Amino acid sequence: MQTQLRIGMIGVDGRGGLWRHWHQPAGRSVIAGGADISAEALEQFRTEHGGQPFVTSDYRELLARPDIDAIAVTSPDYCHEEHAVAALEAGKHVFCEKPLAITIGGCDHILRAWRASGRRLMVGFNMRYMNIFRVMKEIVESGAIGEIKAVWVRHFVGFGSDFYFHDWHATRANGTSLLLQKGSHDIDMIHWITGAYTTRTAAFGGLDFFGGDRPNDLTCTDCPDRDTCTEVSHSRRVQCAFRQEVDVEDNQVMIMELEGGIKASYLQCHFTPDYHRNYTFIGTQGRIENSEPEMKVWLKTRKSRTWRDLADRTYDIKPAEGGHGGADPVICRDFVEMVLDGKEPLAPPLAGRMSVAAGVCAAHSLRNGGIPVEVPPAAGFWPRDN
Ligand SMILES: NC(=O)c1ccc[n+]([C@@H]2O[C@H](COP(=O)([O-])OP(=O)(O)OC[C@H]3O[C@@H](n4cnc5c(N)ncnc54)[C@H](O)[C@@H]3O)[C@@H](O)[C@H]2O)c1
Repeated sequence: MQTQLRIGMIGVDGRGGLWRHWHQPAGRSVIAGGADISAEALEQFRTEHGGQPFVTSDYRELLARPDIDAIAVTSPDYCHEEHAVAALEAGKHVFCEKPLAITIGGCDHILRAWRASGRRLMVGFNMRYMNIFRVMKEIVESGAIGEIKAVWVRHFVGFGSDFYFHDWHATRANGTSLLLQKGSHDIDMIHWITGAYTTRTAAFGGLDFFGGDRPNDLTCTDCPDRDTCTEVSHSRRVQCAFRQEVDVEDNQVMIMELEGGIKASYLQCHFTPDYHRNYTFIGTQGRIENSEPEMKVWLKTRKSRTWRDLADRTYDIKPAEGGHGGADPVICRDFVEMVLDGKEPLAPPLAGRMSVAAGVCAAHSLRNGGIPVEVPPAAGFWPRDN
């Protein structure tokens, strides 16, 4: 029986930093190689790794290696379809970052390749591993709020331009819509906690703060306004947030109808002063709500003529070590256990496809006057078998 998983990374910098969780030479997984189009990123990876990882600028060379069992696709969104399909076709197990792909067709292509491969596929929905959302999921599963009928989510992506407006994320060609970025996590949370996928959606949105008339090649480093601009970037992502090519919306409201007639609404805004991700799920017996800044979940129950209506409860969420509220080391471990032990991951591949599908349909709606759009089911996956 195989005791150690040998993993190769496509994309070693940025999110590719997940390799540090997987590289445990005395443990159950090691990072055996990495591919990246950036020579600098590869060099940094090779040096920090310390062993002798295989490095290449051509991901196909990584896939051709028989000593690599699994591939982590941590390249930008617009590469996922190509990289994940090629890895599955090369017989590798795949961890693919969210969003699974940037089109519904792209996701379906990956799902077909996955099914044909007989290998395992996991999507990087690390929010499913965060304590605060696991607690919400458990409360719902305990039956404490009854049957969920309505959901309300607001996400203030309050780091302004830092996440998405200084690089490739800011164009539709590269990512379709920011509803597939933070949005794909939030839509997935709504799907996961309700246990239902979106069937119909409509949305409004706009590009009301970022974008503009600055040249596409302007960078913060060279900008004459760098001392006064509120959005000046000090990270490695330095394209101007007010450049002409920016065409993804920076705020959206999305309404959704889910299986079983559950209604949900989602607001995402990228120019709020503060960061906040706030969810409430309302059921026939009560309501839960979270506060990420306070790390709390509140459960309020309505009259039920049972013990449930004797008290409301507050959950104090315990902090966890590691990136993304402790989720990153756990999702990495889950990937290894999925491949080596046959464990079912928290997020099945279909979940990756359904959150992209809902986001793509909402983007289509908001760019076409807010029309309702039916979310197409994944061929061969309906009725659901994940
Ligand atoms: N789940 C999460 O919490 C989370 C967090 C951050 C990013 N992500 C996802 O991770 C992915 C990467 O995001 P990022 O911010 O690290 O992006 P990034 O732009 O920093 O790129 C990551 C790496 O991929 C490399 N790369 C770019 N094009 C490549 C290609 N064609 N072939 C090989 N390597 C290539 C880059 O040089 C870089 O080293 C995105 O899909 C993003 O949505 C997920």
